[in-house]
Amino acid sequence: MTGQHPAQIPGERAVAVRELAKVYGPLRAVDGVSFDVRRGEIFGIVGVNGSGKTTTVECLQGLRDRDNGEVHVLGLDPATQRDALRHRIGSQLQESALPDRLRVWEALDLFAAISPRSRDWRRLADEWGLWEKRRAAFADLSGGQRQRLFVALALVNDPEIVFLDEMTTGLDPSARHAAWDLVRAVRQRGTTVVLVTHFMDEAEELCDRIAVFKAGRIVALDTPSALVRRFADHSTVRFTHEGDDLPWLDGCPGASAVEREGTRFTVAGDGPLLAYVASALVAHGIAPLDLRVERPTLEQAFLRISEVEATTR
Ligand SMILES: Nc1ncnc2c1ncn2[C@@H]1O[C@H](COP(=O)(O)OP(=O)(O)O)[C@@H](O)[C@H]1O
Ligand SMILES: [Mg+2]
Repeated sequence: MTGQHPAQIPGERAVAVRELAKVYGPLRAVDGVSFDVRRGEIFGIVGVNGSGKTTTVECLQGLRDRDNGEVHVLGLDPATQRDALRHRIGSQLQESALPDRLRVWEALDLFAAISPRSRDWRRLADEWGLWEKRRAAFADLSGGQRQRLFVALALVNDPEIVFLDEMTTGLDPSARHAAWDLVRAVRQRGTTVVLVTHFMDEAEELCDRIAVFKAGRIVALDTPSALVRRFADHSTVRFTHEGDDLPWLDGCPGASAVEREGTRFTVAGDGPLLAYVASALVAHGIAPLDLRVERPTLEQAFLRISEVEATTR
C-alpha cells in the first residue's frame, strides 16, 4: 500500500511521486506508487526482479511515459519538462550501451561537453578506477569496467540528483566497496541519490530510507534500522561452554529457544536478550569469553517483508 508521509516543504523534496502507475498490456508493472525523496538523501528502492523498480525510476527520469499519477523531480514533471530536467539529473541505466569503438575518455569528454555544468572527467575517471583504461574502446571493457563507466557518465554533469540502477551488479567485492565510498562522497557534495539495488547489504550500508517494492507496489518504506526492527526483531546469542546443560537459560526473559551442539550454545529470542543471558550466566558463575549477539540484517527483514502482504505506509 502506498502512503501518507508527513507534510513537507516542497523545497525539501527532490522527488515527489503520487499514485504512479504504468501498465504493459495486462501487466500492472507499477501499480499506484507514492513516495518522496528528500534533498541530500540516499534513497533506496529494493525488491525482487520484476517488481517495478526500473520502470519507476525510468518514469522519474522521463525515459518512460506513465499511465497515471503525478511525478515531480526537482519540481519539474519529467513527462513534459524532460529537457529542463535532463541537465540537472544523472542517469545510470540498468541496461545501457555505447558504440563499440568509442573510447572511455571520448565518452566522458563528450558527456561533459554537452552538459552546461560539468565535473572534471579526468578526476571522475580516476575515482572510478578508469584512468588506466581511458584509451580503451567500450567493446574492450570488462563488465565491471563498463558498469563503472556508466556510473561515471551519470555523474559527469554534476547532477543535483542521480539515479543509479543496479550500480554494483558485475563488480567484484573490492570494487563494490569502493563504489559505496564513492556514492557517499557523491552525497557529500550535496547530490541526492536514488539507488535501485537488489543487494540488501548495499541498501543497509548506504541508504537513509528504503522503499520495498513488491509486484508494482510499495509494501514498506522506512529507514533500514526501522525495517529491521519491525520485520526481523529477533536476536541470537551465542557462546561456548564446556560442562553440563544450562536448563535455566530457558527462563531468560525473551528467550524462545535454547540449543546446544557440543560445546556451542545458541539462545534465540527477542528484546534485550544479550543482557538477560549474560546476567543469568554470571549469576551461575559462568563467564564465556566469546559471548556475543547476532542482530538480524536487512536481508532477513526483506525476506520477511516478502512473505507478508502489503500492510504498510
Ligand atoms: N517494455 C516492456 N514491455 C513489457 N513488459 C515490460 C517492459 N519493461 C518491463 N516490463 C515488465 O514489467 C515488470 C517490471 O519490470 P521492471 O520495472 O524492469 O522490474 P525490476 O526493475 O524491479 O526488475 C516486469 O514484469 C517486466 O517484465
Ligand atoms: Mg530493474
